Amino acid sequence: MKNIVIAAGLAVAAVALSQASAADMMALAKSKNCLACHAIDTKLVGPSYKDVAKKYAGKPGAEATLVNAVLHGVSGGWGPVPMPANPQVSPAEAKQLVEWILSMKK
Ligand code: HEC
Repeated sequence: MKNIVIAAGLAVAAVALSQASAADMMALAKSKNCLACHAIDTKLVGPSYKDVAKKYAGKPGAEATLVNAVLHGVSGGWGPVPMPANPQVSPAEAKQLVEWILSMKK
């Protein structure tokens, strides 16, 4: 019984942690201007992050491809509008953002 209570407590703590980091990632994406062109659920100038996650789900090398796209820009994958390079983003931040985006697959 005591173990169940402890396990439940840990589960709640884990959920709280992952929510905090989702909020942090939202803030990072906002501060790096990603959200000027992207939204989680809706296509704006660029594809929605959920669509990106769906397209690349299970693809080997997806993370490296997308980190490169975020840092240096990319075109032709989604439509006529290219994504410009994002020199304000460090490689480590790009990796964090891409992991966050790829985690949105349903
Ligand atoms: C000026 C608008 C703009 C900004 C700012 C922008 N994006 Fe994009 N993004 C786009 C467009 C347009 C595409 C689709 C490009 C294409 O068709 O290949 C795209 C595509 C992407 C993709 C998918 C790339 C692929 O190869 O499929 C990812 C991931 C992405 N953006 C993440 C980001 C992140 C993270 C940021 C912030 C650092 C960001 N974007 C900032 C417009 C933007």
